[in-house]
Amino acid sequence: MYELTEEQKMLQQTVRQLAKEKVEPRAAEIDAKGEYPWDMFELLRDNDLLALCFPEEYDGAGADLLTVCIAIEELARVCVNTSLILGVNKLGSTPILLAGNEEQLKKYIPPLARGEKQCAFGLTEPGAGSDAAAMTTRAVRKGDVYVINGQKCFITNGGIADTYSIFAKTDESAGVKGISAFIVEKDFPGFEVGKIEHKMGIRGSQTTELIFTDMEVPAENLLGKEGEGFKIAMMTLDRTRPTIGAQAVGLAQGALDHAVAYAKERVQFGGPIARLQGIQFMLADMAMQIEAARQLVYYSAALVERAGREASAVSAMAKCFASDVAMKVTVDAVQVLGGYGYMVEYPLERMMRDAKITQIYEGTNQIQRVVIARHLLG
Ligand code: CAA
Repeated sequence: MYELTEEQKMLQQTVRQLAKEKVEPRAAEIDAKGEYPWDMFELLRDNDLLALCFPEEYDGAGADLLTVCIAIEELARVCVNTSLILGVNKLGSTPILLAGNEEQLKKYIPPLARGEKQCAFGLTEPGAGSDAAAMTTRAVRKGDVYVINGQKCFITNGGIADTYSIFAKTDESAGVKGISAFIVEKDFPGFEVGKIEHKMGIRGSQTTELIFTDMEVPAENLLGKEGEGFKIAMMTLDRTRPTIGAQAVGLAQGALDHAVAYAKERVQFGGPIARLQGIQFMLADMAMQIEAARQLVYYSAALVERAGREASAVSAMAKCFASDVAMKVTVDAVQVLGGYGYMVEYPLERMMRDAKITQIYEGTNQIQRVVIARHLLG
């Protein structure tokens, strides 16, 4: 059993209560309207939850990754859209935290930590999804600026975020070593938000294209050195895949909560369906899988901060296992509710739709298996 510290247990209780009282009542409406929930962003900001992701010297709360995962899990238990606000700000800022110099950190991190600004991560392109290195966005140095041309897609928080970690090729001939990372502000001339996607789930999170047309980025916004971008992207994903695992665990736990409550209330064949072994076995299997996923997620979050690259495979396992569990558990939870599970009046069909993305974003689960297999095979 992975033991949480007293501080982590306190945060878990605080976020659980906040989620139950303030987030859960909004969850269905956020999904139905498909609009970004600014009130939920403000709630996280006002309760210092956004600050968790950032070091104290830059106005953050200096929490470790496991603590961030616990907060994400509790929010996702009632509303995945709200948990994603925390998750995407962690993802978008991690390249800056990993590779930023003092000036970059001082300029860009405090407004994120204080919740005055938001961030996003721009890696994926129409022709470069799983094969991230196939990107064609180009950055050409011209004096004091890089001129960037290209297009990103499926960008979580696109148009909502003010600050973006963007990856582009600075040397076409150098393969993965020709990719560089930049901090881009949405006000830079040539930055444009393209199509807003309509999605199966996470409908309260804005997903967009980003289009760069002769976008001028000051040379001082290069993260690390030219050519280090791919490594920065991979190191980021190692550290954020556990957060997707946490989101999946929360989502699955939320689905199980509803299935258990329903099974105790629903009367068929003369009594609550919870007394039927067929239902009991389903609930027991869900609980077993969720607990195994939770332990792996907590372990991976703690490990990646001390072991770095060595933890890549465990991080991939946590994301992959937990999201597969979330998909299976939400499908089974709908089944426990039968016809009611299929109706929008109950939260389970939303949870089932929301679960699907956890198997896809931050690397499909097939890519997680590639990472794990490469670790095994050397
Ligand atoms: N840490 C540090 N360096 C790493 C690394 C890691 N975890 N993984 C790879 N590298 C380095 C390698 O060492 C290698 O450098 P050297 O040659 O110096 O050794 C270099 O990067 C290239 O590595 P690979 O040969 O393994 O690269 P590849 O092209 O075969 O790709 C991949 C590997 C794992 C498939 C990678 O492309 C990948 O992770 N793809 C999935 C992309 C992804 O997750 N996208 C999600 C987008 S973000 C999103 O979805 C978020 C959202 O909106 C919410």
